Amino acid sequence: MLPKPLYRALAATSIDGKIAKRADHFSDWTSPEDKQHLRDTIAASDVIVIGNNTYKLAEDRLQKRNCIVLTSTVATIQRIHSLLTYMNPSNYPLADLINESGYKTICILGGTQIYSYCLHNNLIDELHITVEPVVFGEGLPLFNTPHESNFELTSSQQLNKRGTMLLKYTYNKKDLQWKPPGFQTFPVRSP
Ligand SMILES: NC(=O)c1ccc[n+]([C@@H]2O[C@H](COP(=O)([O-])OP(=O)(O)OC[C@H]3O[C@@H](n4cnc5c(N)ncnc54)[C@H](OP(=O)(O)O)[C@@H]3O)[C@@H](O)[C@H]2O)c1
Repeated sequence: MLPKPLYRALAATSIDGKIAKRADHFSDWTSPEDKQHLRDTIAASDVIVIGNNTYKLAEDRLQKRNCIVLTSTVATIQRIHSLLTYMNPSNYPLADLINESGYKTICILGGTQIYSYCLHNNLIDELHITVEPVVFGEGLPLFNTPHESNFELTSSQQLNKRGTMLLKYTYNKKDLQWKPPGFQTFPVRSP
């Protein structure tokens, strides 16, 4: 049997947990050290998975990268050229396309809707979060879907003197019943 692909999601957040101020906010606020981590991780990946909003903002920088762009503007899959594929995950499972293409290492680049789609479909094995020492006080969260998952911290590293922190987590399959102290579970309403 072929080994399962590794899905690695990368995100930079503010201290208050936002990935952007608005949907059209370009990620130019991250540190040089985070950008280097992004470049290194992309270089070690077979393909990038990215939402159409983020792709439109970063298209210039991604032209030489192999990208799958998630969008509702195509029925299933539209291959534009050898490095660019548009696909609609509502009509064709992303995991099927990844498996059929033989990709082994996947870099999930967001934004919120794509991180949420991947979380909801159990497609995040590793989560790298770079916390930049800034506060937005508003903005887009990392995830926007009600989906409970547990992750385990595998490493934490201070990347620069300003205090940019790189936190690496792996999905914790074993401990699905564990809940953090104070975690609220809501009763299921009977019909
Ligand atoms: N800080 C970071 O690390 C980081 C990383 C990435 C992005 N960002 C920021 O995040 C913001 C964008 O995030 P976002 O959540 O607005 O957009 P997004 O996730 O980049 O893209 C959303 C788009 O993806 C498509 N899509 C999503 N789910 C789909 C589904 N289930 N089926 C079909 N198509 C689907 C839709 O495209 P169509 O409208 O074409 O149908 C949707 O409008 C930007 O500001 C960007 O800079 C930050």
